[in-house]
Amino acid sequence: MGKVSAILVGLLLLCVLGEAVQNLEIYKDPTQPIYMRIKDLMGRMSLAEKIGQMTQIDRSVATPEIMKEFSIGSLLSGGGSVPLPQATAEDWIHMVNDFQKGSLSSRLGIPMIYGIDAVHGHNSVYKATIFPHNVGLGATRDPELVKRIGAATALEVRATGIQYAFAPCIAVCRDPRWGRCYESYSEDPKIVKAMTTIITGLQGEIPTNSRAGMPYVGGNAISAAIDPSTELVYRENPDAEFVKSGNFSYAIVVVGEHPYAETAGDNSNLTIPEPGPSTITNVCGGIKCVVVVISGRPLVIQPYLPSISALVAAWLPGSEGQGEATSLFFLNFSVIAPATAIAPPWSQSPSEDSVSFLSIFRVLSALRISVSKQVSYESNLHNKDQEPPLNPFSLFSHG
Ligand SMILES: *[C@@H]1O[C@H](CO)[C@@H](O)[C@H](O)[C@H]1NC(C)=O
Ligand SMILES: *[C@@H]1O[C@H](CO)[C@@H](O)[C@H](O)[C@H]1NC(C)=O
Ligand SMILES: *[C@@H]1O[C@H](CO)[C@@H](O)[C@H](O)[C@H]1NC(C)=O
Repeated sequence: MGKVSAILVGLLLLCVLGEAVQNLEIYKDPTQPIYMRIKDLMGRMSLAEKIGQMTQIDRSVATPEIMKEFSIGSLLSGGGSVPLPQATAEDWIHMVNDFQKGSLSSRLGIPMIYGIDAVHGHNSVYKATIFPHNVGLGATRDPELVKRIGAATALEVRATGIQYAFAPCIAVCRDPRWGRCYESYSEDPKIVKAMTTIITGLQGEIPTNSRAGMPYVGGNAISAAIDPSTELVYRENPDAEFVKSGNFSYAIVVVGEHPYAETAGDNSNLTIPEPGPSTITNVCGGIKCVVVVISGRPLVIQPYLPSISALVAAWLPGSEGQGEATSLFFLNFSVIAPATAIAPPWSQSPSEDSVSFLSIFRVLSALRISVSKQVSYESNLHNKDQEPPLNPFSLFSHG
């Protein structure tokens, strides 16, 4: 009898003790000062847990069990690392939550953070809004617009359960032969600095009287400008004969670089790949034309300048060629310079001293294109699973 009592007392004591230990978990107590919480947590962590916390692994090698066992601090989606092909926002949220449950069930219950390259919109996510790359945003010289793009991106990132965008990229590209030049807002640090409004967009302007660290996201609106009366004809890689026989008033020629990212895009000659040049020659040799160059950097355009009427630097749309089409047909052009006004460095060849490209963005005139019906595309750029080469195409107008 006496023995049983002793055991019971022992159990009671243990329970009381357990509760006391719980109360002492200062790091979990939001009413404690932050430095106290950090000190407390650090004191509890083993070396292995500290290493785990400093480690970020790709989602493709993670499981909830791994998050728990190794106390992993953060996860990322590397380029193209998605839970499923064409994953929905719900798929993303479930994936993030499952990993988070693993982290929260670890010995110390430290939550993980999930990061992603949301670098031109939430660009890894199917059906997310794709914004132009930084080189194009820099060309707008519009920090307020860039801030709104940051806010819209933040909204879509949070909608997939992700807390962390790898942004901004404040590279200052001085050599367009580099395959990551398009990630740079400008070669001019002043412009790069101005474009850091993306941060306020992503993080939110903290309203007065609001607690720091709470997200705030503004709105985003796009309006369309369409004016009826022009008939359009679409043709991929047109030959000179087709151009001659069509009795067209003018043409829009779209050419560009093949898809690339990061160092896979290094290029020492900066020429437009075929069939881009032959398309320009075939079309612009016959009629008035506007050439739209979709690229991540300025390319050698000098040889074609005598035949073209105007040039648009549209910049890379990432995997979404349709985005360029939408801009062309539903929004006014904003960055157009008459071909004659474009001086080097859009030059004959990219010599060491001609790689600067500050001057090309001067907005010398604006051109409005009116269309009566949307062009039907065989756009092969909107498939995110494969990124086939950009097919140069042309639009011809009657009327
Ligand atoms: C070509 O277009 C012009 C102007 O729209 C028109 O006057 C002319 O009749 C057309 N020619 C042919 C052969 O269709
Ligand atoms: C230019 O460089 C690219 C990449 O290095 C290469 O694929 C292409 O063939 C080159 N073009 C010319 C015209 O030299
Ligand atoms: C396009 O330009 C016209 C004329 O300047 C203007 O009225 C219209 O609001 C513009 N549309 C957009 C979407 O900017």
